[in-house]
Amino acid sequence: MRSTDKTTEAARVMSICNACRYCEGHCAVFQAMELRLEFNSDTLDYLANLCHNCGACYHNCQYAPPHEFQLNVPAAMAELRQENYGVYAWPGFMGKLFANNGLWVSFLSIVVITLFLGGTAILTGDDFFSAHDNAFYGVISHDVLAAMFGAVGGFVLLALLVSIVKFWRTMNLPSPFRLDYPRVMQGIKDALSLKYLDGGNGQGCSYPSETPSMARRWFHQMTFWGFMLCFAATSSATVLHYGFDLPAPYGYLSLPKLFGILGGFGLIVGPAGLLILKARADAAPKGKTNKGMDVSFLVLLFLTSLTGLCLMFVRDTQYVGVMLSIHLGVVMTLFLSMPYGKFVHGFYRLIALIVFAVEKNDHKQVVGVCSDKKAA
Ligand code: HEM
Ligand code: SF4
Ligand code: SF4
Repeated sequence: MRSTDKTTEAARVMSICNACRYCEGHCAVFQAMELRLEFNSDTLDYLANLCHNCGACYHNCQYAPPHEFQLNVPAAMAELRQENYGVYAWPGFMGKLFANNGLWVSFLSIVVITLFLGGTAILTGDDFFSAHDNAFYGVISHDVLAAMFGAVGGFVLLALLVSIVKFWRTMNLPSPFRLDYPRVMQGIKDALSLKYLDGGNGQGCSYPSETPSMARRWFHQMTFWGFMLCFAATSSATVLHYGFDLPAPYGYLSLPKLFGILGGFGLIVGPAGLLILKARADAAPKGKTNKGMDVSFLVLLFLTSLTGLCLMFVRDTQYVGVMLSIHLGVVMTLFLSMPYGKFVHGFYRLIALIVFAVEKNDHKQVVGVCSDKKAA
């Protein structure tokens, strides 16, 4: 178990809330809290990932500043979340990248895009500013692309998998074969619907201001589903390439294109909306967290789809080389930063919501049970 400033503050906050319980209707955090008398770091990591930072409990709290208790549940949870992303990162020393996230992601993107532009210019020589018969593969061959993204993708998957297993174990879940599947489905449903961004009464969360609003939920849904559709576009293109010997580029009515256009639209509107809300949001419920981590992830998602859509329009022109290099640079930066940036929150939140569904069904604590109680 760890003991840090963030865990100490989150435990203090939860102990006061557990005596008050005024906010129990708001969200899963308070219902999970009520099953407990003590808050160790495992329990607090679980509660932090259950908190959707909707702000409702901050605006309704009689102990919030200027009260001497200075109670701010969303801030305590957001700061702890930021800390635990680093704790579960693999390899461990890379966890430091969660601090100053925006800075190193910006630096990485400049380096990677420059490398792509320079590499492509050297490889294509005089043809850098020419249209190519076979569009992208006339600029960089399929085999080179597959080798580069395959190698990076393999490492990213491994890093994500190890982090997820570490968090899974802390959450005390059994092996995937022994899971309570109806509860897993409930957790997935709560994650996909972003249930706890509804403020507890279906009116929406207190974000960006105290007035309830569904805006964050809708923009997040567009971002999430946009991302999933772009993933489906790449996967269907891979199946067409290897399974049916049909290489890119594809027509406008093909599956990769339809998924890509729809997903690209979601991934432009969603992150842009979230960025605008963030610029207007009350600072207090967010706490002293690294705003750069959210912003850099949002900007990368936005640029991935913007450059992807631009590439679609210029693919038969002399600008294909420049646009492809910029797009690949942005996608590569997104890939490399995935295990060490905001992307990881999706997995931890999903696992926390599955645990909550199990605890709620069984009316007993799963996370944070000390080993002697587990044996009993
Ligand atoms: C299991 C699924 C997911 C759940 C339950 C979830 C939930 C949340 C919640 C509650 C927030 C607001 C609190 C915070 O800033 O941490 C958030 C923020 C965010 N999520 Fe997700 N998320 C999921 C997956 C994803 C995925 C797959 C993406 C995109 C690839 C994504 C993109 C974002 C972004 C960009 C933010 C920052 C938004 C902002 O700063 O306002 N999320 N997510
Ligand atoms: S946030 Fe404030 S009002 Fe809500 S349960 Fe905690 S102490 Fe009570
Ligand atoms: S900020 Fe919202 S989600 Fe987080 S504990 Fe408060 S009411 Fe629950």
